[in-house]
Amino acid sequence: MSSNSEQISKTKQVEAMFNDIAPKYDFLNHFLSLGIDKIWRRKVIRKIINDNPSDVLDIATGTADLAILLARKHPKVNIIGIDLAENMLAVGRKKVEELNLSNRIALKQGDSLSLPFENATFDVAMVAFGVRNYENPVKGMEETLRILRKNGKFYVLEFSMPRRFPMAQLYRFYFWAILPLLGRMVSGHKQAYTYLPESVNAFPDGNNFIVLMEKAGFLDCKYKKLSFGIATIYEGKKG
Ligand SMILES: C[S@@+](CC[C@H](N)C(=O)[O-])C[C@H]1O[C@@H](n2cnc3c(N)ncnc32)[C@H](O)[C@@H]1O
Repeated sequence: MSSNSEQISKTKQVEAMFNDIAPKYDFLNHFLSLGIDKIWRRKVIRKIINDNPSDVLDIATGTADLAILLARKHPKVNIIGIDLAENMLAVGRKKVEELNLSNRIALKQGDSLSLPFENATFDVAMVAFGVRNYENPVKGMEETLRILRKNGKFYVLEFSMPRRFPMAQLYRFYFWAILPLLGRMVSGHKQAYTYLPESVNAFPDGNNFIVLMEKAGFLDCKYKKLSFGIATIYEGKKG
């Protein structure tokens, strides 16, 4: 995040950035990932459907893509999506209404680090491309643990860095040279798409992220790399 605004918390900067890019977010998301993000989301949802939850929290829901996909694939589940950025939620609400899912998906403004829910409210919590943006990831995940019911599951979908030749080299070139350029051209936002590779690079992945999940109190934590390690699904359980 920009260092000239040291006084502004990371949370405030993230909120402002996503409010700015909200109208272009969905297009850029699918365009810059060449649509692969949809495959990753489907994999997370398949796991969640196996848990057969009733109440699900989509943390850092953004424009609600993950919540919508779950609601479409699972006819009974009720989902609340929460996000800092009101403009992202506004895009999400429009999609939810157009798909007649307003009776099953509610979108609320809020911070993952202090969730506005009672203890033990949800069977499953999920977060896609959100944890990396938290001011304090362990604190955010402790909050997630608090709102989960006993034996509740937590799923994280997050970017990671491929390590093997030639994918590592190709991906680095795309991520650092091409993506920021395209992102800036389409969104008109100077920082958002340099923040993306910087934040992914600085964030722990694989076993290093599992350590954070365990620190937050999750049990049976494991992960599965997707697409040569460009993204990873993590999961853990509340005991
Ligand atoms: C990259 S977007 C991902 C949105 C959505 N989950 C998806 O898969 O497209 C990250 C989202 O996380 C939200 N976010 C970041 N930090 C947050 C926090 N502490 N609490 C709630 N939302 C947060 C941002 O506002 C943004 O909408």
